[in-house]
This record gives sequence, C-alpha cells and structure tokens, in this order.
Amino acid sequence: MNTSLELNTEYPPPNEQAFIDSLINELRKKMEADYAGKRMLRDAHPKMHGCIRGEFSILPNLTADLRVGLFGESRSYPAWVRFSNQNNSAAPDKKPDIRGVAIKLMGVTGNKLLTQANPSTTHDFVMISDSRFVTKDVEEFDGLIRGLIGGFLKLGWYFLTHLRVLRNLWSSLRNFNNPLTIRYFSVAPYLLGKRAVKYTLIPRDAGRTSAPRNPSDNYLKDAMAEDLKRRTAMFDFAVQFQTDPYKMPIEDPGITWDEAISPFLPVATLTIPCQIFDTPTRSEFGDNLSFNPWRCLPEHRPLGGISRARRQVYKALATFRHKRNHSQRVEPGADDPDPR
Ligand code: HEM
Repeated sequence: MNTSLELNTEYPPPNEQAFIDSLINELRKKMEADYAGKRMLRDAHPKMHGCIRGEFSILPNLTADLRVGLFGESRSYPAWVRFSNQNNSAAPDKKPDIRGVAIKLMGVTGNKLLTQANPSTTHDFVMISDSRFVTKDVEEFDGLIRGLIGGFLKLGWYFLTHLRVLRNLWSSLRNFNNPLTIRYFSVAPYLLGKRAVKYTLIPRDAGRTSAPRNPSDNYLKDAMAEDLKRRTAMFDFAVQFQTDPYKMPIEDPGITWDEAISPFLPVATLTIPCQIFDTPTRSEFGDNLSFNPWRCLPEHRPLGGISRARRQVYKALATFRHKRNHSQRVEPGADDPDPR
C-alpha cells in the first residue's frame, strides 16, 4: 500500500503479470468452450448494435494544456464507431447491461503504441456506459472471471468477499433506449502529454435510461436505425484532468473522478450523419474490426493496471479470434464497405 501518491503516476503491483497471464489463459479457454464449432465472437461486447460511419473533429482554439497530441491541430478525421452490449452472450437488449462504444479514427499519422512494428494510421478510443469499472485492479478482475467460470458457489463466495465489486457491477447494469443518447466514459485514465485525464462522450440529445414497452430483442439497433433515417447525431468528447491523486486514483478505475473537483473540458465532437448501417456487409465489417486502447499516439498512453492488462489481453484474444475464424486482422480505411 502506497502511503504517498503523486499526480499523473502509475504504481504497478509486483505480481501483476501473473494475473494478466492467468486472465489470457482463462478467457482463451472460455472462448474455446463458448464457441466450439461456431464462428468466434469477442469474449466481451460480442453483440454489436451497429458499426456506424462518423466524423471526429478537434475543436479550434483549445487552451495550451489541451492542445496535445491528437488534439494539437483543429481538423476532422473519418471514424468507424461500434456500439455494443457488454454481456458475453447475445442476450435480448432489455436485459440490464453495460453498453460500449469503440471509436476508430482514420488518417492519424505518427507511431501508435500498439503497432510500432506494423504502423497504422488508425487511433482507437474504447468507452462504456458507466463512470466506473467493476474492479480496482487485475487481481480483482482475474478473481471475478474465475468466479464467473467456476459456478454459483465460487461466484457467491467471491462477491461476499468483494462487496464493492458486487455494488459496482449491480449499479452499472442498466437499460437505455438508444445507443446514440447514452453518455459513455473511458473509466480508465490516459496521459494527455504529461498529465493524466479520463475521457467522456456526451450525447447532445440525452435519452431515457429505460427500455421501451414491449421491446424487441434488438431494440437498441432498431432505435438507432430509425434515428439515423432522419437526423444527424452529435456527441461532445471531453477530458477531465486528475487534480487529486487520492480522490482520483490512477490504479483504481472502480472510483469515479468527481466532476465537482475537476470538470470535463470539451476537446472534440463526434458527428454521426444519417445513414443505413444495418446491412450484412457492414455487420461483418464491424465484427472483424478490433479495437485496442493502446492503438494510440504515445501522448495518450493508457495508465493503470487494468489498461496494462488490456494491452496484452485484447491483442492476444483478438488475434486468437481472427485465427480461429480464418479472417485477416487488418486496420480499415475510411471507405465504406457497403456504400449506399
Ligand atoms: C482487465 C480488464 C478487461 C478485460 C480482461 C477486458 C476484455 C475484453 C475483451 C477480451 C474484449 C474483446 C476484444 C476483441 O476480441 O477484440 C473487450 C472488448 C471491449 N472492452 Fe474490455 N476488458 C477489460 C476492461 C475494460 C474496460 C476498463 C473498459 C472500459 C472502457 C472496457 C470496454 C470494452 C469495450 C467497449 C469493448 C468492445 C470493443 C469493440 O467494440 O470491439 N473493457 N474487452
């Protein structure tokens, strides 16, 4: 336990790698069992509501502390945006769940942390519908996965001995009426130059946190398809500086950073124009994409144990998934695979 914490600083525990290895092992075995004889989907966030074309625009006139890395120049990037449910099976959307958004920008020059050997011009952001993650670190997350795989008694014991995980999980499983009206959070911190920040994506048009009456199994996709027939959807992308290393820890994404202490500051917009996205070609395209928070410029390096684990876990499991499906893992361009 650290007695004194500094701002913008990571504190990796000595045994972290053993829990990362265990996670990769456990999840690989689980995916092998879940998808025996079938096309393999992502272990987390397998159900996609849509892979949507968008545009990510950096705001002009940002203050010097925000004008860093990607946000250094006011310009627009084409983006692919994948909306998903977290649940590891394709359950009906009315089941309370964490919802995800993954954004891939195209045309971002400069080496990315993930792909130094194989340079790409893509840059990813990965976010969820809650402001805090379920666990504080990799050890606690590995325990949760072992509990989930191990059956009722093991899971029950895990929750009894990890009450905060139970509380965080319970409060993050919610209903929404449209993925385009959800507020999303990075949960984990990132560098912005030399300082630590968290990200949020705020819909201009906020929706209700409830399911409609008599919802269809895929009502989130249906709501988005209806919406994008008639309007352009807009989000603000904002960053929140870490200003207190105790109340806003780097090594515990299970704690929300209080906006009263440090407000979110807008740096970009995400515009989603009217479009038809619900086609087999676009769905296959979205399924074959892989997102990774480490596919980013070094100025935006992910911070904290959960992200140190994700660097290895996402890469290992995305490679495993593509190999099993005999599909090639390639970074896309802005060209629409199904223009209409
Ligand atoms: C140690 C902790 C975590 C593990 C082991 C984990 C595991 C995974 C895995 C295996 C995938 C699928 C990767 C692929 O096959 O392409 C995934 C996707 C995803 N994860 Fe995590 N995750 C963790 C933490 C987080 C956190 C903190 C967030 C919060 C932002 C998050 C949000 C997402 C989202 C939104 C996706 C879907 C990305 C897409 O659309 O492809 N995960 N995660």
